Amino acid sequence: MSIGAVVLAAGQGIRMRSSLPKVVHPLAGRPMVGWVLEALAGAGVERTVVVVGHGADTVRAALPGEVGVAVQERRLGTGDATRAGLAALDPACDAVLVACGDTPLLPAGLVARLIDDHASGGRAATILTAVLPDAGAYGRVVRGADGMVERVVEASDATPEELAIGEYNAGLYIFSRAALESALGRIAPHNAQGELYLTDALALLGGPVAAVTAEDPELAAGVNDRVDLAACEAALQRRLREELMRGGVTMPDPSAVYVEAGVAVGADTVLHPGTHLRGATTVGEGCVLGPDVVVTDSAIGDRCTVLSAHLVEARVADEAQVGPFAYLRPGTRMEPGSKVGTYVETKNTVLGERAKVPHLSYIGDAVVGERTNIGAGNITANYDGFRKHPTRIGARVRTGSDCVFVAPVTVGDDAMTGAGSIITDDVPEGSLGIARARQSIIEGFTAKAEARAREAATDAGEDRS
Ligand code: UD1
Ligand code: CA
Repeated sequence: MSIGAVVLAAGQGIRMRSSLPKVVHPLAGRPMVGWVLEALAGAGVERTVVVVGHGADTVRAALPGEVGVAVQERRLGTGDATRAGLAALDPACDAVLVACGDTPLLPAGLVARLIDDHASGGRAATILTAVLPDAGAYGRVVRGADGMVERVVEASDATPEELAIGEYNAGLYIFSRAALESALGRIAPHNAQGELYLTDALALLGGPVAAVTAEDPELAAGVNDRVDLAACEAALQRRLREELMRGGVTMPDPSAVYVEAGVAVGADTVLHPGTHLRGATTVGEGCVLGPDVVVTDSAIGDRCTVLSAHLVEARVADEAQVGPFAYLRPGTRMEPGSKVGTYVETKNTVLGERAKVPHLSYIGDAVVGERTNIGAGNITANYDGFRKHPTRIGARVRTGSDCVFVAPVTVGDDAMTGAGSIITDDVPEGSLGIARARQSIIEGFTAKAEARAREAATDAGEDRS
C-alpha cells in the first residue's frame, strides 16, 4: 500500500464571518491547515496535495513547500474537491487518505491508527468516527447489521431517527484509490445543500467500509465558527503547555501562559502568568520569565530573568537580566551577564558582557563594550532626520546620567561622560567627555528678588490712591 493524502481546504468557511479563508486562521501561531499537515507528516504520509479554492493565493502562501496544491475551480462540495485533489496526486499512490483542513486537533497517532487499521484487510475504505450525545451538524454514521459502515448521512439530510445517532463522521478517511475514483464519478448533488458530497461515495465503493472510533471526540473536532476556533486554541495551548511541563518547565498557573507551536523551553525554567512565547522562540534552562512577558522570534539563554518585558527578534545570552518594563526590539543582542533595566528600549544594539543599561534609556544602532555602565536617562540620537548612524561605546565606560550621544560618535574604552552632556564629538580612551553649560551662582538672589517685588507692589498701591 502506497499512501498519498488529499487535504480539503477550498471552502470559504462562511460561518467564520471572516475575510480570511477559514483554514489559514492561526491557531497557536500556525495556520489551521498546518496542524493537519503536521499530523499527516507525523503519521508517515509523504505525498500530500492540498485542495485550494476560496482565497487560493492566501492559502497557498500559508502552505509548506513540500506539499502539492490543486485548485478546485468552483465550490461544488467535498466530493468535487476530492476529485480535484486526486487528479494532482502521484499516480503511484494506491491508497488515499482524505482529511479536512479544518480539523486541527487531529493527532498524528490517530492518523497512524487509521492507516494501520485499514492495512489490516480487504476494505474499500476506513473512516474515523467519534461519538457525542448530540452530534450537531456532523454527518451521522449509519452502520449495517454486520457492524460495518453502510453510509454517512449529512445532518441536513437526516431523518429524526438518523439525527439521534451519536456516532459521527470525523472527516478523516482512507480509501482504496481505484474504488474512490470510480465512486466519485457516480455521486450526484441530490441533497439539501445541492453539493457533491464525498460522504456519498462511501456507499458506492463496492466494498466494505470500516470505522475506527476516536475515544476522545475533542481530537476529531472540526472548526466551523469562531467559538470552535477558540475551543481549538484552548485545546492546543493545553497540549503545548503540558509538553513543556513534562519536559521540566514550571508554570505556577498554566492557564495564564501562551505558547506557540515550535517554541522550546529548557528544564527548570519558570514561566509565570502572563508569559507569551511566540514564533521561533527558544528559552534556555533555569530562567525565570514573567509575570507579563511577551517574547517573539527571540532566543534567550540559560539562567536569565525577564520581568514585564517585550522582546522581538532579540538574542539574550546566559545570565542576562531584562526588565521590569523593557522593550528589546529587533537586532538587540545581549552578551552574557548583561542587563537592560527599567524603562529601557534597545534596537539593533550589541550589549557586551556584563554591560548594564539600568534605567530610562534608548540605545539604538549601538555597540556597547563589556562591563560598561550606561547612566540613567541616556539616549543615542541615532537618527538625523534622514539616516541612521551608529554609536560606539567602548569597554568599562561609565556614562553620566542624562547623556545624549549624537551619532555617529565613538566613546573609547575606560572613558567617562559627565551628567547632562550632549556628546557630539568622539571621546578618546580613558578621557572624560563633558558638554554642558557651566553653572554660575548669584549670591543673595532670593532676598533681592523679594525686595524688588515688594517695592513694585507698594508703587502700584500709591498709584491707585
Ligand atoms: C464534513 C462532512 C461531514 C463531517 C464533517 C467533519 C461532507 C459532505 N460532510 O461536513 O460528514 O461530519 O465534515 O468535520 O463531506 N471543502 C472544499 N470544497 C468544497 C467544500 C468543502 O474544499 O466544495 C473543504 C472545506 O474547506 C473544509 C472541508 O472541505 O475544510 C469540509 O467542508 P465543510 O463544509 O466544513 O464540511 P462539513 O459541513 O463540516
Ligand atoms: Ca467542517
